[in-house]
Amino acid sequence: MKSILFVCLGNICRSPMAEGILRHKAEMQGLKLKIDSVGTESFHVGENPDKRATATAKEYGIDISKLVARQINRDDFDTFDLILVADAQVYNEVIHLARNETDKKKVNFIMNLVHSDFNTAVPDPYYGGMDGFEKVFQMLDKACDALIEKLEKK
Ligand code: 4NP
Repeated sequence: MKSILFVCLGNICRSPMAEGILRHKAEMQGLKLKIDSVGTESFHVGENPDKRATATAKEYGIDISKLVARQINRDDFDTFDLILVADAQVYNEVIHLARNETDKKKVNFIMNLVHSDFNTAVPDPYYGGMDGFEKVFQMLDKACDALIEKLEKK
């Protein structure tokens, strides 16, 4: 079974939204995937997603309210085939944790699923308003569609 890990800073906004969206799409397609999300930082470990992220996902019929934030660790490189990061800061942190070239090759930007090699950031919505969460949802929705399409072709 293919396994995918989404990574952002806090694991309370962007990556749990990505986890919920991909899980929803995989279920709809009958595609068996192992999906999880983590943060590079520990500030929010043990917390459920930000209420604004939960509310945004809920508008699209996706329940992320019970996800619990955790911090990335080196074992994640063994557990997951693909490690998808939200932005350049997260990318650098994850690459820094990688033990070897095999680990590094698993890491890519989420939005490179839509425009390969652009390294476009999913912007951090934490300090903004609800519109930022909606924008993030739409970006992640596109990326997850592209990922499902790619996985179905294999
Ligand atoms: P996330 O958003 O990385 O998308 O979960 C953030 C959540 C919390 C903080 C920063 C970004 N923070 O600084 O506490």
